[in-house]
Amino acid sequence: MPDIVLAIETSCDETAAAVLADGRIVRSNIVASQESVHTRFGGVVPELAARAHVESIRGIIEHALHTAGVTYREVDAVAVTDGPGLVGSLLVGVAAARTLAWLLDRPLVPVDHIDAHAVSAALTPPTPGSPRWPAVALVVSGGHTSLYHVRDWLNVQLLGQTTDDAAGEAFDKVAAILELGYPGGPLVDRLARDGNPAAIHFPRTRPDGDSLDFSFSGLKTAVLYHVYGRGRKYGSVAHLSRAQLADIAASFQAALVEPLVERTIEAAQRVGAPRVVVGGGVAANGALRSALAGACAVAGLELILTPMAFCTDNAAMIALLGHHLWKAGRTCDLDLEPRSGLRRPARSVG
Ligand code: KG4
Ligand code: ZN
Repeated sequence: MPDIVLAIETSCDETAAAVLADGRIVRSNIVASQESVHTRFGGVVPELAARAHVESIRGIIEHALHTAGVTYREVDAVAVTDGPGLVGSLLVGVAAARTLAWLLDRPLVPVDHIDAHAVSAALTPPTPGSPRWPAVALVVSGGHTSLYHVRDWLNVQLLGQTTDDAAGEAFDKVAAILELGYPGGPLVDRLARDGNPAAIHFPRTRPDGDSLDFSFSGLKTAVLYHVYGRGRKYGSVAHLSRAQLADIAASFQAALVEPLVERTIEAAQRVGAPRVVVGGGVAANGALRSALAGACAVAGLELILTPMAFCTDNAAMIALLGHHLWKAGRTCDLDLEPRSGLRRPARSVG
């Protein structure tokens, strides 16, 4: 009989459940997006997110089990994201997982959302589940932008992170300035394809000396002033042509991607890792993917880009890390509580 992990992920605005067999076969990976709930507010509304999770969690779990051809009784361990994220959202997944673990009398495994993004590249074909470590992991999402040294499944160490906005947040804010809609990343990505990345030189901020941190808030402000006029926080894009908007999108993207790629390569060289793995929603970005591919080829590093289904928030990555934590005995009591913040600084899970 295979080892079956059922995983639940509700850290932000995606209700997700997945079934993983033997730590390598994704039998199901179900994600219910709440995009339609939040679009008209231009961002995630925590109370609405929590309520939407409550409404869909049971159906999503049953859908995941059904798709996997697994009954509740066949589940060997229940993994759940316990943080970081929106507490009201996390609470729904944690409550569901605690209930299932208790009812089924199975171990409960708490999983860190960002650590799961960092190891998600291991789900990449042709050998999903096999370790891709040691590696430097770049996690770029709406909530986080961080570099990790992944020595093995249970040893994930933070090397650097954004000191202000996450990369995805910068994409979403620039999309709002350019009046493109929400979520903004894919819309900026699409518009940028028609623009000239060298048209405008936006600032590339590098937080102090040899740190591997990032900073994107200055870039976002530079885009704001470029569009509305220096020192102005409000305005419109009515005076700009589509070609000008495309140039702004492409130039912004270039200014964001350059430090991401530079520091990722630098991190790999510093820790002596032979490969770079990339996860998180922003890993979908065309400019980032091609810049990383070029830079890794020059530096002689292997590059593993996590497949899109496992880049954006999903429960398969929670099941994957959950499987290894479970096997290492990292289970918890049924009084597990969610946590909103990062379990940092520089944490080694090992
Ligand atoms: O990992 P994810 O699904 O959720 C978080 O944990 O945050 O990432 C979502 C973020 C959003 O900010 C979205 O705008 C961004 O990823 N994103 C992109 C692209 N696709 C999604 N950013 C840039 N280019 C894209 N193609
Ligand atoms: Zn995420």
